[in-house]
Amino acid sequence: METSKHELRSKLPNVATTIFTRIGNLAREHNALDLSQGFPNFEMDPELIALTTEAMKKGFNQYAPMQGYFGLRTAIADKIQRLHGRTYDPDTEITVTVGATQAIFTAITAFVHPGDEVIVLKPAYDCYEPAIVLNGGIPIPVQLNNTDFKVDWALLKSKITAKTRMLIINTPHNPSGRVFSENDMLQLQEILKPTNIILISDEAYEHLVFDERVHWSAARFTDLASRTFVCASFGKTFYITGWKMGYCAAPKALMTAFLKIHQFAVFSIHHPVQRAMAVYLQNADRYLGLPAFYQQKRDFFLGQLDRSKFTFTPTEGTYFQLLDFSEWSNDSDEAIAERLIVAHKLACIPISSFNEGRLDHRLLRFCFAKTEETLEQAAAILNRL
Ligand SMILES: Cc1ncc(COP(=O)(O)O)c(C=O)c1O
Repeated sequence: METSKHELRSKLPNVATTIFTRIGNLAREHNALDLSQGFPNFEMDPELIALTTEAMKKGFNQYAPMQGYFGLRTAIADKIQRLHGRTYDPDTEITVTVGATQAIFTAITAFVHPGDEVIVLKPAYDCYEPAIVLNGGIPIPVQLNNTDFKVDWALLKSKITAKTRMLIINTPHNPSGRVFSENDMLQLQEILKPTNIILISDEAYEHLVFDERVHWSAARFTDLASRTFVCASFGKTFYITGWKMGYCAAPKALMTAFLKIHQFAVFSIHHPVQRAMAVYLQNADRYLGLPAFYQQKRDFFLGQLDRSKFTFTPTEGTYFQLLDFSEWSNDSDEAIAERLIVAHKLACIPISSFNEGRLDHRLLRFCFAKTEETLEQAAAILNRL
């Protein structure tokens, strides 16, 4: 087919197919075990299916209120209050979204004007920069340290200019698994205090923190909370990534601007699942039990890698584990990832694609939200390399 002029005028001319699509396609082509994309391969809780079915049967099949079903917004506000001690008004400060992605996109669209700068910590999840660019903003990358992925706060501070409109953080962090400490958040708070910078805190993996760590949500810190969109994902939390359901919490003034976009881009999300989630969230064990559940999977996976050449530090949070091959190969991470799929039938994500200038630290990301059988098979392949 002839290329149309419309395609040539794409607003994202430099964005190619994402690494997830490319790796996913290659994995399917070679029938590889897929530990690349971040989704569980075990069944979701049938109780949530039953609650959704019940909501549909009860007739909750028409539009929900624009910000989301009030009962769910209340349940979310209660959860944040219980976990982080911050009160958000469910009427004006909580919105139910199409996953964390839409919350992030909408918050960026609501505030980023042409020429505004937005600081992004690299490696970064791939939805931030296209949203910034689409709104005429300029992403300002700050590369994280490649061994422990700590933020160099002095470096970050040096990137702030009069044009800095927004900063995006992500804790627990994809792809490194690093969890910000209380001290990180306090340093961030001090840096932002004299500014008008809006913070997006991507907390999609809020419940996946290991080894007794605490998730230091931006909601816990008074000054940070006053300028932050906390964005979260029920898809990640309750292994229902296909439901694309999340939420965001922000002070009223920020949320009012957010809703001006949300009402036209989305209006409201699937009503029956909101009804179901409102009931499901009443039992806090459903999310408080997740660290133990996933830590057991992390430890199982790493325990199986006893004969592997890879080096690693157990991940602090998320359901991703980085494996380092720098000691035994100088090949690029993309080349190794491709070889793993084609020759060994195992898929993972090379993390250079998340880095500024595709910086390659010889690290591969594996998703361990998988059954023990899958993890065992993956580890057996990695041990044979
Ligand atoms: C850091 C991060 N933020 C946001 C998302 C998107 O979440 P959702 O599927 O709820 O839109 C992901 C998904 O992989 C992620 O890793």
